[in-house]
Formats: sequence, structure tokens, C-alpha cells
Amino acid sequence: MHLSKRINSVSPSATLAISTLTKQMKAKGQDVIDLSIGQPDFTTPQFIDAAATAAINSGQASFYTPATGIAELKDAIAAHVAKQTGVTYAKSQIAVTTGAKLALYGLFQVLLDPGDEVLVPTPGWVSYVEQIRLAGGVPRAVVAAAHFKVTVDELEAQRTRKTRAVIINSPQNPSGAVYARQELTLIGNWALQHGILVVADDIYRDLIYNGASYTSMIEIDPAITANTVLISGVSKSYAMTGWRIGFAAGPEKLIDALGKLLGHATGNPTAASQYAAVAAFTSDGTAVETMRQAFEDRLNTIFPLVQKLPGFDLPEKPQGAFYLFPQVKRAAALTHYTSVDDFVAALLQETGVALVPGRAFGMPDYARLSYATDKASLLDAVGRIENFVGNN
Ligand SMILES: Cc1ncc(COP(=O)(O)O)c(C=O)c1O
Repeated sequence: MHLSKRINSVSPSATLAISTLTKQMKAKGQDVIDLSIGQPDFTTPQFIDAAATAAINSGQASFYTPATGIAELKDAIAAHVAKQTGVTYAKSQIAVTTGAKLALYGLFQVLLDPGDEVLVPTPGWVSYVEQIRLAGGVPRAVVAAAHFKVTVDELEAQRTRKTRAVIINSPQNPSGAVYARQELTLIGNWALQHGILVVADDIYRDLIYNGASYTSMIEIDPAITANTVLISGVSKSYAMTGWRIGFAAGPEKLIDALGKLLGHATGNPTAASQYAAVAAFTSDGTAVETMRQAFEDRLNTIFPLVQKLPGFDLPEKPQGAFYLFPQVKRAAALTHYTSVDDFVAALLQETGVALVPGRAFGMPDYARLSYATDKASLLDAVGRIENFVGNN
């Protein structure tokens, strides 16, 4: 079977690979605690399910919708974003997509010519690099020397004539780091000065802990907003990963282009999911807050314990998302593994605790641990890791 060079150049998603393996182990009856997952463990709030059911029962969900989503949902997104940031997008500036993942995928497709470059802060989410490659672009890793956050100097060192965009993901997957307003201001102005589009992936923005403040790139100043495309969705905030609703909001020309692509790619995001997302975005935020508090409680419980694990280096408490990203190189050495990849694989085989090796996020000495799991399992997992590291 001949396959394209394009697809052959792409690596499968490392996080999906781990989660497939853990599912297989579970299916065999093995006792697995899956801390590799990138999704809330909660089920979707009931009022959101009910909105989808109502749309199905009334027949509203039976038909194609506009490629970039129903007007009702764009209005709901615009009102929600305006409430959170003070920025008002017109409907023509919003495209609803099949998950934020497709918003990003489509964006790179419409933005990049072969050889065009995108600055990808490292550590960073697994799919950015591959999506850029799939669009014929070149991802340029910008390694954050401190706090998992890139600075203007680090970005500038990687800028070339071909740099088209920079991705800023805050709160960040995999570290939970949150960019401060001042840091975003410097990056936003630098991007503006060089005609580089900012892709602000705010998918975790509702998950901020312990009173930390949050600023989005779009709320710094109007010139930066006009040079930024906002990416977000319902997956993480509303426990709706399976519904696949995300969106892009930004310059009309870009959104138009994205709409053209979506029209030929998906036709439209699933209609029933769009009605569910209307209910999510127009809700009063109580459901989000309940889940946020649960994540905060887990973070506060688990962080000091993970910090104390032998060979785990985790100096800073994250402010957002639902991940910890310790350096575990010493833990691998303590257990006589030559790489963190081998350490993580052995941990899964021997103890049933699944982490994601940091290589997936561009930092091979680290591992990602998701705390989107109940507290008892988290405590059990930490105990198993401690035994594993301590006994080897
Ligand atoms: C940083 C980041 N951006 C975007 C996404 C995509 O989210 P979805 O496609 O579920 O909306 C994810 C999901 O894991 C993510 O971690």
C-alpha cells in the first residue's frame, strides 16, 4: 500500500498511544491507574446533555448546519468570550470546529505555505508540531529555559524571514504554567512588530487555581487582539471532550479562509454537539466552578507528595490546567533505567501507573502526570510510584 510522504512524516500521538495501551491492560483485567489522560474524569453536566437530547428530539439536530457553526452558538461564544475578556468578536470572526484540535489543524492549513515556519514553545502540546508538518510548514521549537514559559529573547533567537506564527498556550499542557500579563504583553508586542500572528490556545483558561490571576493574549490591547487568533472550546472546561466542539476567533480574513477549508473537510461540526455547546456557553458557570474546585483540591493534595517522590524534581506549583510535569531523570537513574522513556514504560508494566514520557512534549527528561482522576486513585498512584522508585 502506497502512503503519502506527508503522512509518513508524521508521528502518531504519543498520548493516544499510551492511553490505548492502558485501555488494553485494563481490558485484560490489570490494575491500571491512568494518569496519562488529558481529559476531565467528570461526565458532562446533565443540563448540557439535556440540551443535546432536546435538539435531537425536536429534529433540529438532523440536518447540516453552516460549515462554521450555527448562529446561536456563535452568539453564545461571542457573549461568553466578551464576558471573560471584554473583547467582542462579530459572528464573522468566529468559526466553530470539531474540537479545538481541528481549529488548530485548519488554521495551519490556511496559514502556511511549504517551508513557512511556526514557533512552537517547548514544552508544548504533542499535536502542534505534527499539525504544522501536515500543513507543509516547519515547526521551530523554542525551548523555555525557565518556568516552562518562553521569553521574547528566546523567540527572537528562532525568528526567521519565514516565521508566520507563534503559539502561546496558557495555561499550558503539559506543565500547567500560566503566562503573566506582562510576559504576554512583551510577546504580543514583539509579534506585532514582526508581523507574526499569535495563536493563543486558551483551552484550559477556566482551570486556574489558588487565586492565581489569568490574562488572555486577546485582552492586552486592541492591536495585539487584531494580530491574534483565539483557540478554545468546551472540552476541558465543561467535561465535553467526546462532543468535539472548539472554535477559532480572530481576523475575519483568516476565519473566512478557515470556513472554506471546513466546508470541504467536515461540512459542519456535529449539530447535536453544537446545541449542547450553546447550553454550556450560556450557563452561569456553576458547573465549571464545581469541577475547577475539585481539580484545585487534587492539585493541592498531590503536588507536595509528588514533589517528595525520590528522583522527582518539581520546583514550582502549577497555576492551571490539570497536569504536573516533573523532571524524572534522577528517578530513572535511581531505578537503573537509561532513559525516562524506559522508566515510564517499566512503571506502567510493574505498577500499573501510566504517565506520559516528556519526549512527547519535547522534553525527554520529564514526564507528565494528569490529576484529572479521583483523589483515592491519585494517592494510590503516588504510593505505587514511591514503592517502585524506593525499592529498585
Ligand atoms: C493545549 C491543547 N490544545 C488543544 C487541545 C484540543 O482540545 P479539543 O480538540 O478536545 O477541543 C488540547 C487537548 O488535549 C490541548 O491540550
